[in-house]
Amino acid sequence: MLYTTREPDPAHIGFLDDLAGSDIGQGYKRRALAALDLRPGLTVLDVGCGPGSDLPALAEQVTDRGRIVGVDLWEGMVDEARARTAHLPWVEVQVGDAQQLPLPDAAVDRARADRVVQHVAEPTAVFAELRRVLRPGGRAVIVEPDRDSLVIDGNPAANLAYNRFVCERRVRNPRVGRELGRLAEDAGLRVETVLADAPVIRDFDAADRLLNLRRTLRRAVRYGYLDEAAADRWLTELRTGRFLASSILFIAVLTRP
Ligand SMILES: C[S@@+](CC[C@H](N)C(=O)[O-])C[C@H]1O[C@@H](n2cnc3c(N)ncnc32)[C@H](O)[C@@H]1O
Repeated sequence: MLYTTREPDPAHIGFLDDLAGSDIGQGYKRRALAALDLRPGLTVLDVGCGPGSDLPALAEQVTDRGRIVGVDLWEGMVDEARARTAHLPWVEVQVGDAQQLPLPDAAVDRARADRVVQHVAEPTAVFAELRRVLRPGGRAVIVEPDRDSLVIDGNPAANLAYNRFVCERRVRNPRVGRELGRLAEDAGLRVETVLADAPVIRDFDAADRLLNLRRTLRRAVRYGYLDEAAADRWLTELRTGRFLASSILFIAVLTRP
C-alpha cells in the first residue's frame, strides 16, 4: 500500500497552503466555518490541524475569551502551527491522534476536522472520540472529499484508471465523504445536515497544483494502472484542450445529543 500518512515534508505544507489560499479552499472553508456556529468564549478543537491553516480564523471568532486546541499526528505540522499562532495565546497545538484524542471527556464546545478522516486507519474511532470530547449540545463539522468522484473532461478510461489508483493506493478511506452521516450516527452523534461542495477547476495548471495531477499520474503508471503512452496522451489532451475537472467535498454538520 502507498498511503499518504507519511511524515509530511515542507513541500506537503506548501501544498496544503496552496489549497487553503485558493478560491476553492477559501470557499468551502468559509462554508464549513459558518456551519460551526462559533461565538466568543467557546472552546474549539481542530483535529488534524496541519500547519494551522484554520487556527487564526477560529481564534478570531472565539476571541481571547475562548480557547482553540489544534491536534495533529505529526510533530512537523505541530511545530509549524505553533509558530503561526505564537501571537495568539489562546491557541494551543498538541501532537495527538484523531483516533485517541489527548483531551478529557466533554472538554470542547465545537470540533472540526478538514480532510483528515480520509487518512486514518479507523474512521469509527475518530467519530467515537468526537462524541466523547464534545460537551452535550456541542457541534462538529467534518469535511471530507470523495476521491472516487473526480471527473475530468477527456478520456474516460484514463480518468477511471487514475481514480482507481488514488482509491486503491493513495488514500486509506477514499470514499469516506459519502459515509460521514452513517459513521456519525453509528457513533451516537446527531446528523443535522450533510452539505456537498463540487468546485470546478477550469485551468490545467491550477488542477495540477491543487490535485498533484501529473505526479499522481506518474505514480499510477509506475503501479501499472495505465501505461506510459496512454498517460502521455491523456496529459497532452488535458493540457491542450479546454480543461474542466470537478470533485465532491462533503461537509457533515453534527451535534452531540
Ligand atoms: C489534508 S491535511 C489537512 C490539514 C488541515 N486540516 C487543513 O485543512 O489544511 C491532513 C492532516 O491530517 C493529519 N493527520 C493524518 N492522520 C492523522 C491522525 N490519525 N490524527 C491526527 N492528525 C492526522 C496530517 O498530519 C495532516 O496535517
